[in-house]
Amino acid sequence: MGKIYRYEQLDSTNLEAKRIAQQGADHGSVVIARSQDKGRGRLGKSWHTVPGKGLYLSVIVRPQVAIEEYAKLTLVAGVAVARVVSEVIAEKVQLKWPNDVLICGKKCAGILAESSALNLSAEDRFVILGIGINVNQSLSDFPEELLSICTSLKEKTGRTISIDDLFTQVYDSLLQQIERFGKGLFSEILSEWREYDFLAGKEMECVDIDGKRVRGVSLGPDEKGALFIRTKKGSLHEVLSGDVRLAISD
Ligand code: BTN
Repeated sequence: MGKIYRYEQLDSTNLEAKRIAQQGADHGSVVIARSQDKGRGRLGKSWHTVPGKGLYLSVIVRPQVAIEEYAKLTLVAGVAVARVVSEVIAEKVQLKWPNDVLICGKKCAGILAESSALNLSAEDRFVILGIGINVNQSLSDFPEELLSICTSLKEKTGRTISIDDLFTQVYDSLLQQIERFGKGLFSEILSEWREYDFLAGKEMECVDIDGKRVRGVSLGPDEKGALFIRTKKGSLHEVLSGDVRLAISD
């Protein structure tokens, strides 16, 4: 099974996991770092890393499923992280499609799934599931632009949380959910995901990867892991990727 690779400092745990995966690391191996100076977020954004105060890890997954199924892994990881964080803060978190974990509407964790080149042979292909959790950050650790949209587990609970213990919980939970997914139980995972759904029934706007704006009510993710939106005119839009935000009222 997987091996744990621990680092004090990296460029990005996702990048290191990718390098290790290219050298043949096993399914389930994980990279964890105390700090990273090129933390990566979705859609080319960066991830704000505070050395020693957050949990930064990336798991190597060698999915035994078709490439079209890979997008579902972000939701699989979302359930794994939501379960653990909800237990730690003793309150149910929300999941904002596809990858944000929220506490009272503020982001405490993000998930970045990155795959290897898809034209590799099935045994060489992999997906890196990168997770960043704001754990012991105080508000003063966040830059001005993140202050109103981010939070940490410490801010919520008032307690300092052991990053080592949290790592063990998150890693175990991830392996458990990945195994569940591998057994073909995505619809079970999806119904659990929907219990955390932050956007369900809300008016929202989505900018898809082509930069096209779609505005409507979120109907939540479907069996493919894509988000369904119903516009005012009643048409349905399926969004496989893109940035999602609550619509700002006119
Ligand atoms: C997002 O919300 O945009 C996804 C953020 C993912 C951040 C984590 S931190 C650990 C791993 N390494 C990275 O470079 N990114 C992910």
